[in-house]
Amino acid sequence: MSGGFSAFAYLVASVCFIMALRGLSSPTTARRGNLFGIAAMTIAVFTTLTLPAITGLSLLWIIIAVGIGGTIGTLVALRIVMTALPQLIAAFHSLVGLAAVLVAAAAFYAPEAFGIGTVGHIHAGSVIEMSLGVAIGAITFTGSIIAFAKLQGLVSGKPLIFSGQHMLNLALGILLLVLIIVLMVAQSPVIFWAIIVLSLALGFLIILPIGGADMPVVVSMLNSYSGWAAAGIGFTLANPVLIVVGALVGSSGAILSYIMCKAMNRSFFSVILGGFGGEVAGPAGGADMGDKTIKQGAAADAAFIMDQASSVIIVPGYGMAVAQAQHVLREMVDLLKEKGVEVRYAIHPVAGRMPGHMNVLLAEAAVPYDEVLELDEINRDFSATDVAFVIGANDITNPAAKTDKSSPIYGMPILNVEDAGTVLFIKRSLASGYAGVDNELFYRDNTMMLLDDAKKMCENIVKALEQS
Ligand code: TAP
Repeated sequence: MSGGFSAFAYLVASVCFIMALRGLSSPTTARRGNLFGIAAMTIAVFTTLTLPAITGLSLLWIIIAVGIGGTIGTLVALRIVMTALPQLIAAFHSLVGLAAVLVAAAAFYAPEAFGIGTVGHIHAGSVIEMSLGVAIGAITFTGSIIAFAKLQGLVSGKPLIFSGQHMLNLALGILLLVLIIVLMVAQSPVIFWAIIVLSLALGFLIILPIGGADMPVVVSMLNSYSGWAAAGIGFTLANPVLIVVGALVGSSGAILSYIMCKAMNRSFFSVILGGFGGEVAGPAGGADMGDKTIKQGAAADAAFIMDQASSVIIVPGYGMAVAQAQHVLREMVDLLKEKGVEVRYAIHPVAGRMPGHMNVLLAEAAVPYDEVLELDEINRDFSATDVAFVIGANDITNPAAKTDKSSPIYGMPILNVEDAGTVLFIKRSLASGYAGVDNELFYRDNTMMLLDDAKKMCENIVKALEQS
């Protein structure tokens, strides 16, 4: 393929990648966004395979590698459960980081093949790109492995803090910069490998102190790093589409981290510096907590209350995802609608464990998009609503975020379920949510606790509604 045509094809692919991001910004256009992404990647891969530098033998290696990687990716994607997606993404990011390190190593040992100079005499600009790519890639690699291990429960989700950790990280960061400068002057393999080892250690040390509750923000941040690492490789390989896509991933990951921090009312630096989000267990099981008591109900009570209501707002949270209750929830809502009840869904921006988590689950259960409303669109309506039906959500409804300045969730916007006539809470116990904070709503007069697995409870409510 001629240089001009491949440049044009890469431009088309880049535009399609931008359209993919645009489409993925809303559930209604997400499918179209995915199709644009698939088209963009297909164009980019085929254009690269037809470049003059790809000869018969290297094409064979590429096809073998794509075959192995594609098979593993397909098998993993087919088996993964929705709640495990954050750790899957973390695991995949680690591979992007590793790829950046390997490409940089290949360019360092065979610079002629990349047209960036000769061994020991690599162009200064290329050494900088290579060093940044390798440093960001290695940090992403170990950081993502730690994020994966924390999310998968292989290591404790608690923040691991030791005194002087920030000073140590700062000192290592400065040492890393010094080594990159030394590498530009003396292109020694020892310095090159020292940069890799130091960056691997930094990735480990930066992510280890961060608690489980902040891991989704970390995964999005590592996503951003992996994008910048890919852009770095793009410069080394002089591949424009890799530079564009790397920059798109890098900036969209950074924006997503910012949006998540804002929705949780945390500063980006407080996330990066770690220490938040230990898994503090709330009071478990029983119906009493000191002098506080709860009103506990059964499925039949919930069915009766909702049957009598004229409006219900459903508030889904992480527990709905764990229980996979979205399909039976939809059945329950269909029955209520048949009985003339107005039902809508309220989505908090950080409900669940990843951005758009609830939207994806509700879309899977074919809930119409126009019934699903964001926090700003629906929050004022709770006061005019008969029933708030909270299914597996906790932190996103906790009034401590508005009233208790000492609470770790203070300042986070919440869904005002307490303003509804009756609040029905489905969860298995009185345990706290991810932020580890007790929820005083459980003990309010207008709250009824439905203590059971979300799917089981909804199934029983459906049975009770069918009989009423
Ligand atoms: P949480 O506050 O974590 O509460 C979920 C509740 O679901 C738990 O209290 C749990 O109580 C219940 N649950 C678990 N399994 C269940 C099951 N099988 N059936 C019924 N209930 C079940 O979730 P949320 O309200 O969705 O809030 C999200 C939290 O994650 C926030 O703190 C948010 O800041 C944090 N976070 C979210 C994101 C994104 S992007 N979504 C990113 C970072 C952090 P029981 O154990 O008593 O059942």
